[in-house]
Amino acid sequence: MNRDGFGSRLGILAAAAGSAIGLGNIWKFPYIAGENGGAAFILVYLICIFLIGMPVMLSELVIGRKGQSNAVGSFEKVKPNSPWKFTGVLGVGTAFIILSFYSTIAGWIFAYISRAITGKLTTINPGELEGFFGNLISGSFEPVLWQFIVIFITAFIVISGIKKGVEKYSKILMPVLLLLLIVLAIRSVTLEGAYAGLEFLFKPDFSSLSAKGVLEALGHAFFSLSLGMCTLLTYGSYVKKNEKLPSLTLQITLADTFIALLAGIVIFPAVFAYGLSPDSGPNLIFITLPTVFHSMPFGGFFEILFFILIGIAAITSTISLLEVPVAFFTEEFNLSRKKVTVLIAVIIFIIGVPSTLSYGVMKDMTIFGKNFFDLADFTASNILLPIGGLLISLFVGWVWGTRNAIREATNEGKIRFLLSGAYGFVTRFIVPIGILVILFYSTGIIKP
Ligand code: TRP
Repeated sequence: MNRDGFGSRLGILAAAAGSAIGLGNIWKFPYIAGENGGAAFILVYLICIFLIGMPVMLSELVIGRKGQSNAVGSFEKVKPNSPWKFTGVLGVGTAFIILSFYSTIAGWIFAYISRAITGKLTTINPGELEGFFGNLISGSFEPVLWQFIVIFITAFIVISGIKKGVEKYSKILMPVLLLLLIVLAIRSVTLEGAYAGLEFLFKPDFSSLSAKGVLEALGHAFFSLSLGMCTLLTYGSYVKKNEKLPSLTLQITLADTFIALLAGIVIFPAVFAYGLSPDSGPNLIFITLPTVFHSMPFGGFFEILFFILIGIAAITSTISLLEVPVAFFTEEFNLSRKKVTVLIAVIIFIIGVPSTLSYGVMKDMTIFGKNFFDLADFTASNILLPIGGLLISLFVGWVWGTRNAIREATNEGKIRFLLSGAYGFVTRFIVPIGILVILFYSTGIIKP
């Protein structure tokens, strides 16, 4: 049987950029930039994206396309009978954990969409927004229901496979997302007083950047580009042999970065124009931004667009996360894609419920001083993803060999890859060192 795969270059780009562009770009990036002083943080983030993120992305794509198989199978094909396939096993496990808490926040977004459309959200007073959000997330039924819906939609798309599922929906959803963001960005920068927000985003003030901020930038670069758990490795395995992987890597990276900055351009000018504070953390898009919408003309309309936009971004990311375990179990155990998808979706929902309830009835249940949500987020984002990225780079740099990786990246020497020397060097030395530093920092072994 022929293996499923992407039908067109545009489809690959839409799906891979769709994976990268997600809650990380629109919910998290603006608020961590806001907390770390804006432009200076963004500059460091950009360095991390291009110096560390991009080479790891190329490594993932290359291993996947060479192996033509799932996260585990690809390592096995490229380097038979070696323990490196456990990098893939780790990726599969990490997918379960990330989906379990990612679906919590995506669920809140969908709850906001439904309440914005029915007018419940758009008509309340700005002063009541905090209570509104608090009420929503502390419930025991509603947020769990929305989480279920998010996982259901994700499974619905993934079940149809790559060409008829992931690719088809990404090709529709990503242009809509871009269009909505541009509309919102125009609205935001044309508000009176918007300039201060742009200055905050683009004029660096290094005095507000701490060592902690630098490390956070590096960690977020990984999360935002969907690296370290074989997502892009799995997508890479569906890419045809004649596609150019180096330019694909550059395009995905630029798209992800552009959208993160555009999200900043939507959020900060508006926040500054209405005299609100940019550093309200995770509540930025749930409380601060609605406050802005409720003060501007036709704000209700823009509010609906904004939350639909994040909902789209979230779904094109969750499908990429789910694809990793689905591909693994279907191929390695020869099971039907349908059955596997349903079963995994159910398991993810079950392990995800405690994360959702962490803001309500399970608030006081903590492990190592963290509630379920924070524990899942911390373990996956700060420990498992960096370890995954480290293993992937060590595998390419020292086991399989950069020469072999470059051969695959250049389609057996048929295309030019100007930075191949730099890619090899960075993969062998800079990336592992950079990742070890984040890892030691995030586990508290070294303190900045
Ligand atoms: N990159 C996505 C975001 O920014 C999230 C995501 C999707 C992800 N797949 C991933 C993160 C794989 C890490 C690994 O929201």
